[in-house]
Amino acid sequence: MKLPTLQKILLDFEPARENFLPAVKKINQIFGYVSQKDIYRLAEYFSLSPAEAASAVSFYDDIRIKPKSNLEIKVCMSTPCELRGASAVLKEVENFLRANSERDKTARLEIMTRSCQGRCQRGPVIIVNDNIYDEVKPHTVDDILASYFEK
Ligand code: FES
Repeated sequence: MKLPTLQKILLDFEPARENFLPAVKKINQIFGYVSQKDIYRLAEYFSLSPAEAASAVSFYDDIRIKPKSNLEIKVCMSTPCELRGASAVLKEVENFLRANSERDKTARLEIMTRSCQGRCQRGPVIIVNDNIYDEVKPHTVDDILASYFEK
């Protein structure tokens, strides 16, 4: 399937400020992310400063500003998960990835911290690609993540 160009996507939107976010969401949906170059072109099209456009794009968790990684790990860092040990889990995730990215140089890895995932009673919560893991403990992180390296 051939992807449309940014210019073609923008034809669906009048260059009014209220259409900025719908256009950004559409671009994110089609390309999987909104590049820095796209942000500049969007700013120009919608008469925003590049800083305003970049700030608006980065505000939304669901809008990516770079291509998706092979392994995307989200760690919930909202207060309930934090109180249940999310910081220690995050540290273990970082340690695991540091060790394994040296072993597998082709892997594209990314850790993101996220706000509440609506599973507070079962925190700490991590999401690996689209799989949700509840009640994660630092000592269970290796087993969870290792399974993704073996695939
Ligand atoms: S605080 Fe982590 S799921 Fe709600």
